[in-house]
Amino acid sequence: MDTFELDREIAHLAVLQRTELIDPKLRKIRKLFGRYLFSNFFSKYFINIKKVSKNYFDIMQIEYNSIEKFMKPNQNILCIGAGIGGLEIIVNQQFLNNKFHFIERNFISKKVRYGWDTKNSEAYNDLKLLEKFLILNHLKKNNFKIINFDLDELPKNKYNLVTSLYSLDFHYDFEIYKNYLKNVSTEDTFIIFDTIRPDYFNKIFKSIEILKTENDTVHRSKRLACRGFII
Ligand SMILES: C[S@@+](CC[C@H](N)C(=O)[O-])C[C@H]1O[C@@H](n2cnc3c(N)ncnc32)[C@H](O)[C@@H]1O
Repeated sequence: MDTFELDREIAHLAVLQRTELIDPKLRKIRKLFGRYLFSNFFSKYFINIKKVSKNYFDIMQIEYNSIEKFMKPNQNILCIGAGIGGLEIIVNQQFLNNKFHFIERNFISKKVRYGWDTKNSEAYNDLKLLEKFLILNHLKKNNFKIINFDLDELPKNKYNLVTSLYSLDFHYDFEIYKNYLKNVSTEDTFIIFDTIRPDYFNKIFKSIEILKTENDTVHRSKRLACRGFII
């Protein structure tokens, strides 16, 4: 497998979730017509689905490589803000019997903006399409559960691994999830996320490993693997 199965609606979400998928032509269109028309029309109808699928797969493969050492079979994995879940599809191809819980949101902001959002009012997902993408790409229905952050009670399991790429503490404050994550993790749980303020976590976790430093302007951040809450 070197690409994903997806349709136009799912490709549209991928483009909103990953700005790297916006090609120069589409970027010009965004400048000309503004964010509203871009988010709702051009990013859906002016894309090449096959190209988006291949490029999204390649990006997710690189992301997978950066966290591969934390992957093994039979893990309970909590995915916060996974988007359409390309990373989890790759994990599922590589290792047997992982169970995935996705906490995501079920709306698309009218004018998608990127960057820090104190109120956490931005989202770009559709939970029906997330489920469709996972099934189309061979993640079995009994190996995953989707939780709506705004409506559902968050699950009370203990997780081996938590992943949140370019979501938790990249777009919104880690504090929103801090107490919850304390309750669902053990001393051995790794929590992997991208942050624009890595030093902030020195007082929160006993162990922090920097997995990646991104200097690109859109994604400027560090990817951390943290373990053991201090506070
Ligand atoms: C930039 S996208 C990243 C998606 C994916 N992790 C990736 O690397 O392609 C950020 C995602 O976080 C989701 N999100 C926003 N607020 C959230 C929250 N409070 N809990 C879970 N997900 C959230 C958005 O809907 C969006 O899918």
